Amino acid sequence: MSTSTSVQDRDTGSSDPAYTKLKTNDLVWYTEDVEGQLSDETRTRLETYSKIPPDQVVPHIQAVRATLWSLRAYPCTGLYVFLTPWLAHHSSLPHIIAHLQSPQTQDPKFLDVGAYIGHDLRYLHWAGIPQRSLYALDLLPFWELGYRLWKDEDVFRSTNVIGDVLDESADSEAARVCDGGMDVVYSSAVLHQFDVENGVRACKRLCRFLKTGDDGKGKRGSLLVGCITGSKGVEGLVDVGRLGKGGAGGGDGEQDVKKPVRHSVESLKRLWEGVAEELGWDVEVRVAWRTWEEYGTDPQRCAFMGSDVGVLEWEVRVL
Ligand SMILES: C[S@@+](CC[C@H](N)C(=O)[O-])C[C@H]1O[C@@H](n2cnc3c(N)ncnc32)[C@H](O)[C@@H]1O
Repeated sequence: MSTSTSVQDRDTGSSDPAYTKLKTNDLVWYTEDVEGQLSDETRTRLETYSKIPPDQVVPHIQAVRATLWSLRAYPCTGLYVFLTPWLAHHSSLPHIIAHLQSPQTQDPKFLDVGAYIGHDLRYLHWAGIPQRSLYALDLLPFWELGYRLWKDEDVFRSTNVIGDVLDESADSEAARVCDGGMDVVYSSAVLHQFDVENGVRACKRLCRFLKTGDDGKGKRGSLLVGCITGSKGVEGLVDVGRLGKGGAGGGDGEQDVKKPVRHSVESLKRLWEGVAEELGWDVEVRVAWRTWEEYGTDPQRCAFMGSDVGVLEWEVRVL
């Protein structure tokens, strides 16, 4: 594992969205307002754990964000949403911790797919899960900038793997390190970038990371957990181009061949039930829609997505 805090960019093709490769601040999901997303909990963590002087906290965050933004223009980066681990707000968090700490779970392992700077992994560690249980998978080694944000390069150790959730090959590093090894597979703010077909591919790939039972299917009690932005009402497709500040043509997303799905509770449930059926797995699927406030964000920051949009959570338990 590399310990330098610089990130080497690479061509990630269509595995991540075209709009994230725009090199501009002229996007509706770009703000300079850090304080509006900086919770007391995160500020205290940066002052005590990372030992950043109180008056340096905001400039420090801004400096790290500038590097993150120069790599990929994700809404969670532009809006500083990465300061708020979504896992902390997920209603499955107690189930995740209970499963990882259960005496029945030997050598517990948790994988975060699209782990970014490792904020959810740190949250889980601070909630009592040992670092040796924590795995990160991402297209780019953003975790290097997590070390820079929290100044914990010598303290925090997860197992970090560069990989693509759409890569189905059996000889990738992700396959070697993670396939069949995980008790909980978590993914937040990733699946909403996919069209219908890639959504199914990604969900099946997440399933492959789970430990297997004697029947070769997902091990009983294993969990697939995550969240995406989603609709309170009906599902549809997202016109990303419309979201550029310049109106039509303001987002490269218009060049995307297929538009990402904006799921509803029903369509996301159908997706997971369909994937489980194809794999022949017995599962219990729970999906819930939550508001931005419930996920620690002022709804005004996300208003550009539409008033019926919030966070869709899922928990898929293997029976
Ligand atoms: C919007 S960020 C979300 C980060 C974090 N999970 C969160 O909830 O704040 C999306 C992350 O997923 C990663 N990602 C995007 N497409 C991916 C893919 N095909 N395979 C693996 N990771 C991917 C990105 O590099 C980025 O770190």
